[in-house]
Amino acid sequence: MAEAPNELTLIERIAERALAYVVDPPTGLDPVIDHASPDEIETLFASAASLGFESTAEACDDDAIVDAVDLVIKHSVHTSHPRFVNQNFAGPDPVSVVGDWLGAALNTTGATFEMAPVFTLMESAVLSKLGRLAGYVDESASQVPPLPPGLFCPGGSSATLYALQLARHRLRPDVRRTGATGEQLTLFVSASGHYAATKSAALLGIGTDSVIKVESDERGAIIPAALDAAIQASIDDGQTPFAIIATSGTTVTSAFDDLHALADIAEERGLWLHVDGCYGGSALFSPTHRHLLAGVERSDSFVWNLHKMMGMTQQCTALLVRQPEQLAACFALKADYLFQPDKLHAEYDSGDRTFQCARRIDVLKLWLAWKHHGDQGFADRIDHAVAMADHARARIASADGGFAEVVGNFTNVVFAWIPPELRPLAVDPGAIGDLDSAVRTTLHTLAPQIKARMQAEGTAMVGFQPIEGLNTFRLLFMNPSVTEADVDAMLDRIADYGSDALAVAAT
Ligand SMILES: Cc1ncc(COP(=O)(O)O)c(C=O)c1O
Repeated sequence: MAEAPNELTLIERIAERALAYVVDPPTGLDPVIDHASPDEIETLFASAASLGFESTAEACDDDAIVDAVDLVIKHSVHTSHPRFVNQNFAGPDPVSVVGDWLGAALNTTGATFEMAPVFTLMESAVLSKLGRLAGYVDESASQVPPLPPGLFCPGGSSATLYALQLARHRLRPDVRRTGATGEQLTLFVSASGHYAATKSAALLGIGTDSVIKVESDERGAIIPAALDAAIQASIDDGQTPFAIIATSGTTVTSAFDDLHALADIAEERGLWLHVDGCYGGSALFSPTHRHLLAGVERSDSFVWNLHKMMGMTQQCTALLVRQPEQLAACFALKADYLFQPDKLHAEYDSGDRTFQCARRIDVLKLWLAWKHHGDQGFADRIDHAVAMADHARARIASADGGFAEVVGNFTNVVFAWIPPELRPLAVDPGAIGDLDSAVRTTLHTLAPQIKARMQAEGTAMVGFQPIEGLNTFRLLFMNPSVTEADVDAMLDRIADYGSDALAVAAT
């Protein structure tokens, strides 16, 4: 019998699949990734809507497009899967996904109250709540302050750029008009800090040489005395220090700089203190872990990626500024076709306080998720992530030398699998270079082999990176669906694959 024609429209068919994915994402024994090579992906799509475009692109029929959508889902990385611990983001909070869809459906810009009446107020309310957590806004101020303490930005790197522009503007306001002069400005960040600082320096025209990387301790936190010495050395060299970037949650080891110590230095030297809380800023949601950011209220600016630990869809970045009027001072151009002062409620327009013109509505998903989970739900999310990391640490410590924890803080666990004939073996930061070179080579080459097999079989996605030149694994916890059993299973797979790789090498 002929199949009944599909009554659903293309949009409904795609939306149906997207919703089914969000409500019931792959889990358990489903693969984290159905791995295919670039050639295989091209070939698969050739039997649906092809990936490429001919010079003249004809409209595809709905079935071909839906087949392609199925392939997109099948061959994408399932970041919601509890065995995806590969990056410092993971599966999205489903509420944020639908919030993102709704924001996209309403397709407006957050630049003006005229175009975003509800979202302007919503953004202000959420930023004020974030600002209270960071100590930028008086906790007793239950009302939204007249000027929100920041704004949402397209990602942490962009927000870092904006923060450094603010920092330079405070010191050299004329540069905005005249362009960068020959003066050698310098900024300071830990050697473990994110490369957004260096990229921003390039874009600001102060040059990548202006970024002075300061020694960090073996956990990855900046050494305050080394920072102060580096600032003095820069002054002695005739340079002009203008900013310190502190990191709250470094990308690899999730180290937290001592913000009070850095604020003391910044205040004494008259420098702008920016806190990169892209990753670890969310510790502020947890009464148990917020002490990690003690002193953040003394900083001048603070970047917080809610799309990392909090599971908001990418991207959802708040740039908080202690003196928010500096945003307009730094960025405003008063375009008269958009920010007409004589239109209704123009004083609420946020768009001239940033570099962007159109601004995505990134606040809606966060507002919805926060209303849905409440402060307690957000705190639980952080506490669960740390509990999973603690479980991994305990499991690694009790593995009879089968694993060695290298370093790690908060939600990040960096470790190595140790082949039986090398046990016990300490792989301690600061002493990795002292390891026997054959041992180093064995460990260094095993990690990518183990990772490749995990990826090919889709059993888990665990990242690896060099620490002092040695490839080591990194577990990063933030997904609330990860259980202790998942942690154990991932470690077991690493051990199995490591043993198999050695057995193959021995034949
Ligand atoms: C510590 C830190 N800072 C900044 C960034 C950059 O954020 P984004 O990826 O949103 O540009 C990252 C990204 O991983 C990060 O880990």
